[in-house]
Amino acid sequence: MISKDSKIFIAGHKGMVGSAVWNTFEENGYSNLIGTSSKELDLRNQSSVENFFSANKPAVVIDAAARVGGIMANKTYPYQFLMDNMSIQNNLIASSLAYGCEKFIFLGSSCIYPKLAPQPLKESYLLTSALEPSNEAYALAKISGVKACEYIRTQFGKDYISLMPTNLYGERDNFDLETSHVLPAMITKFHEAKIKGNLPVILWGTGSPKREFLHVQDLAKAVLFSLENTLPDNLYNVGVGEDISILDLANLIQKIVGHQGEIIWDTDKPDGTPRKLLDVSKMKDLGWTAKIQLEEGIQSTYQWYLENVEDLKRVKIG
Ligand SMILES: NC(=O)c1ccc[n+]([C@@H]2O[C@H](COP(=O)([O-])OP(=O)(O)OC[C@H]3O[C@@H](n4cnc5c(N)ncnc54)[C@H](OP(=O)(O)O)[C@@H]3O)[C@@H](O)[C@H]2O)c1
Repeated sequence: MISKDSKIFIAGHKGMVGSAVWNTFEENGYSNLIGTSSKELDLRNQSSVENFFSANKPAVVIDAAARVGGIMANKTYPYQFLMDNMSIQNNLIASSLAYGCEKFIFLGSSCIYPKLAPQPLKESYLLTSALEPSNEAYALAKISGVKACEYIRTQFGKDYISLMPTNLYGERDNFDLETSHVLPAMITKFHEAKIKGNLPVILWGTGSPKREFLHVQDLAKAVLFSLENTLPDNLYNVGVGEDISILDLANLIQKIVGHQGEIIWDTDKPDGTPRKLLDVSKMKDLGWTAKIQLEEGIQSTYQWYLENVEDLKRVKIG
């Protein structure tokens, strides 16, 4: 039985997702949380991970540790994306099973679903056709993590589950224009254009593709829900269940940031997949839904960015 003083290891607790999970658990009275940085414990190292589990024996493990990156990084280093992620999750999953961890929550991403699967994406579409080539290595690693947890459920009867979040945003996101995702990149672009005197902002494509965005605090609540309930299945999508066009997203972020210049759509640049929306009915039927509206979530994210922008620049220079 999980209780408020159960020992919970949050792997990746300094990352965007891990830190939101840590704060949410703490706010909800979980008092025995443990975490280590990659410098203290490299989760790719099997014997170090085994020693850590042997010494700490967590009752619960949340796996929010991963080598993550944008399309360029995924395309340039597929071997590292496959092997680092498999090593991290294999070591965590195997040691959890070996040292009696009762509950394991594995975090993946919606890129596990086939490139041409129908929309919205249902959990049952996993492994029905080929993956998007640009992040195949990352997706394969995540799929093997989902399957390892599923096999442990069926073979050993343990509560090991996988949550697949849609695109996330929020505090501690990556705002670096070279490596960030679309939403934080737009915040940086509109902010920088505003402070330079409302210069035009150039965005890629036509703005017509639609994407779904979940605030990281909502994801953390979904992890809490999965901790406190025994969910009947092994794999759940976590999203808001609705999407927005990139054009509407740009207009919304422009309004929130207060940029008063022009938006130029560079239509020579590719649009990418027309739509990527998760079917979130499985989690909804169990009683969990996202609460943070996109406008409210972007406002608080922009506030966090304003409070941290100088530190973010220093980290980049350093
Ligand atoms: N961000 C998104 O939009 C998004 C969307 C869907 C799913 N997800 C999933 O959420 C999870 C977390 O993502 P995130 O956005 O929070 O990433 P993040 O901010 O980059 O955090 C990743 C964490 O993993 C840790 N880590 C990486 N390599 C490690 C290693 N070798 N040993 C120990 N720790 C290591 C890092 O620790 P240090 O900081 O100490 O190096 C960091 O705390 C990933 O599985 C990702 O697929 C993210």
